[in-house]
Amino acid sequence: MSSTPASLAADFDLRRLDSAFYDDPFPTYHALREHAPVKRMPDGSVFLTRYADIVAVYKDPKTFSSDKHEEFAPKYGRSPLYEHHTTSLVFNDPPLHTRVRRLIAGALTPRHIAAMEEGLVHRVDGLLDAIEASARRGETVDLIESFASAIPVEIIGNLLRVPHDERGPLRGWSLAILGALEPVLSPDVAQRGNAAVRDFLAYLEGLVERRRAAPGDPETDVLTRLILGEAVEGGGEVGDEVGGEGGATERLLANELLHNCIFLLNAGHETTTNLIGNGLRCLLEWPEQKQRLIAQPELIRTAVEEFLRIESSNQLGNRITTCATGIGGVPLAARTQVTLCIGAANRDPAQFENPDVLDIGRSPNRHVAFGSGIHQCVGMGLARLEGRVAIGRFLQRFPNYRLAGPAVRAPRARFRGHVTLPSRPLG
Ligand code: HEM
Repeated sequence: MSSTPASLAADFDLRRLDSAFYDDPFPTYHALREHAPVKRMPDGSVFLTRYADIVAVYKDPKTFSSDKHEEFAPKYGRSPLYEHHTTSLVFNDPPLHTRVRRLIAGALTPRHIAAMEEGLVHRVDGLLDAIEASARRGETVDLIESFASAIPVEIIGNLLRVPHDERGPLRGWSLAILGALEPVLSPDVAQRGNAAVRDFLAYLEGLVERRRAAPGDPETDVLTRLILGEAVEGGGEVGDEVGGEGGATERLLANELLHNCIFLLNAGHETTTNLIGNGLRCLLEWPEQKQRLIAQPELIRTAVEEFLRIESSNQLGNRITTCATGIGGVPLAARTQVTLCIGAANRDPAQFENPDVLDIGRSPNRHVAFGSGIHQCVGMGLARLEGRVAIGRFLQRFPNYRLAGPAVRAPRARFRGHVTLPSRPLG
């Protein structure tokens, strides 16, 4: 018997999801928005699906904290994963958040991002050449492995100046660490996540040591910026005590430096891989929009925004209430965990006309794929550039690409993307 929207909403439990949900969570999100927009989960947390409620939470970081020490303690115990996640800027409030964010943001201004475009185009064209060569040999090409995942690793690797021949393990470490953020954590996933944090830390300790001995240009090398702390603006070295309100002279502790490097490498990887993979998949599912983009390549800017909206790479965000409050008319006690469903907000009909329809020219398109407020994605300019260059140039080169087998989605609620996207690029 098929479920009704009311029963879908009533039965929803983020900790008990099935493969149909992972494939297409949007009917469930629509049902929740309509019948239980502030849905109480069996564990006492609430799950938000309305655009307006989610934006209101993002805009009030004092009431809705990002600090995960309390939430992650029972999930991870005293483990490398716990230390990692509770030290990264995204899961902290000011002042740690402010200090780290300022350091990273300084190397990701529009000017810095524009300067990365030439290298990115070169890398993308190299990948397209290799894909064309495989296709001419009659081979099926996995667009995730051969294309989408190969781009962000290069860009983030460049940002931290990770030597090319040392980039091999980065994606595997990232996937293992991010996989452990799913709502349910199996012992196996926890074990892989912890091993990845340990290995990643060991690698970065060596890299930081080498960089201390031979610093890069703090203008563009994020690792050097983080090592120098606020030296670019104020002066200082890693390892000094931190405290106070996040003033310009404070510096990062050694573990803050390492964990935030790991976070940066992770934040820019899977999300951007999925933007590229989801975008290429969307165009196959909406052939008239594909033709439209081929005819009007200048629409690539709005097209990327639409891919981010309709198939948001990052579907869930989290906050915890610092005091008794309310959202959408529902009272919430202090210390209530709140899940923000970005994927649902981005298909809210109160905000977007025909929200389930891909419209590559959609304007305005005020999606929250990058969040909003003080934690809004620092890398969004870079992610947008990667999306535009990768999808735009792929389509120019292979306008007749098609699937050559089942597109397999990762069974994940938080990060929406594909494990494989087998394709015949030459049609
Ligand atoms: C399509 C690609 C991307 C998506 C969908 C995405 C999404 C997000 C979201 C939703 C947040 C907010 C988290 C929250 O408020 O709890 C965030 C934060 C962040 N992202 Fe991204 N991101 C992407 C790419 C990148 C890239 C390429 C980088 C780095 C170069 C990056 C670095 C960061 C950082 C450092 C934060 C933390 C910001 C803070 O806490 O102040 N992201 N991202």
